[in-house]
Amino acid sequence: MKNLTFLIIFLSVSLSTFSQKIEGLAPTPQMGWNSWNKFGTDINEQMVKEMADALIATGLKDAGYNHILLDDGWMAMERDAQGNLVPHPEKFPNGIKVVADYVHSKGLKFGLYNCAGSKTCAGYPGSRGHEYQDALKYVEWGVDYLKYDWCSTGKLNAEEAYITMRDAIYKAGRPILLSICEWGENKPWDWAQPIGHSWRITGDIYNCFECEHDHGGYFSWGAMNILNMRDQEMLRKVAGPDHWNDMDMLEVGNGGLTPNEEKTHFALWAILNSPLLLGNDLRNMSKETLDILTNKEIIAVNQDALGIQGFKYKTEGTVEIWVKPMVNNEWAICFFNRSQDPVDFIFNWEGQTIKDNVFDKEITFDKGNVYKIKDLYLHKEIGNTKKALKRKLEKNQSLVLKIYK
Ligand code: GLA
Repeated sequence: MKNLTFLIIFLSVSLSTFSQKIEGLAPTPQMGWNSWNKFGTDINEQMVKEMADALIATGLKDAGYNHILLDDGWMAMERDAQGNLVPHPEKFPNGIKVVADYVHSKGLKFGLYNCAGSKTCAGYPGSRGHEYQDALKYVEWGVDYLKYDWCSTGKLNAEEAYITMRDAIYKAGRPILLSICEWGENKPWDWAQPIGHSWRITGDIYNCFECEHDHGGYFSWGAMNILNMRDQEMLRKVAGPDHWNDMDMLEVGNGGLTPNEEKTHFALWAILNSPLLLGNDLRNMSKETLDILTNKEIIAVNQDALGIQGFKYKTEGTVEIWVKPMVNNEWAICFFNRSQDPVDFIFNWEGQTIKDNVFDKEITFDKGNVYKIKDLYLHKEIGNTKKALKRKLEKNQSLVLKIYK
């Protein structure tokens, strides 16, 4: 009897303190718009509403981008007397809930940024010591997504700090997607799967294809630097539905990349299952930018239900061949000329076997196995794998294909 009483007490205590990640919020990599790349902390209510409107008017929402995410700079410099976060009085004079309500009224989800440390990276109040209080505030405002950064964290243990926020969200009782942003410094790929829905793998992206930008003490990185910085073979093993490697927000449409480079950047982020978060001004986009960002067939590669992160099959000369297995034995293939010079590229399908040993997928091209080929930027079927592929690829240009029966 005594033992039974102990067991009942033990079980009820355990259950009441039980916390976990809320699963099912990112079965495929999350998509949306984030304010940081283009606007930094220069954000406000009117602009955010306009961005939600533009997401719809441009067809981006229809293409799958369904989040409006406010990055750093939405808060006042100080918490209130009760320790609550306060919306920035000039930028958000009517509070955050009004903005979240507006975003929701458009059928979109709404997200905010904060930081595990005492201050955010731009110097606003961080969540350290206020995690449970902040989570309740997010619920009050109707927040669906939290990007949780890593500035001013001192000697904090990253895994524990992110667990604290995960538990605070769980306790607060609203399904809030947790986007971990500690730049890969503490190897989140080793521990973050039960905690967050995605984790950044590097420091910040910079508006260039390949460059390093020194901010005086820390660097941000071109798209290709990010691609190269980590062991992609290792990363793909630990990614999947609800736990994605985040290669940072897109720089498409921000003017630092050539059109060919923007297409390569977008295709590789898609193939590597990165979240697709727009980082440009949606109110003011060229047709070329919009065409890239609303390319439904490339988005479908990123959002494929198998959730298998792509990989580099091989490099031939200057051409890197990135591939991704998808449902129904369809494959995405990206031939990327990683060179300053154009190349006349020939690829003989016959005799090639692409093997994914991690996820046990394979595709062979021979006389009995002929596949159709679709060019996903031209939106056109371009023949089949019987004939060798011949293409001129310009500097940093990619040919992005789908191979299917
Ligand atoms: C860090 C993050 C960025 C952005 C800024 C905001 O640098 O990595 O993505 O959120 O903070 O200050």
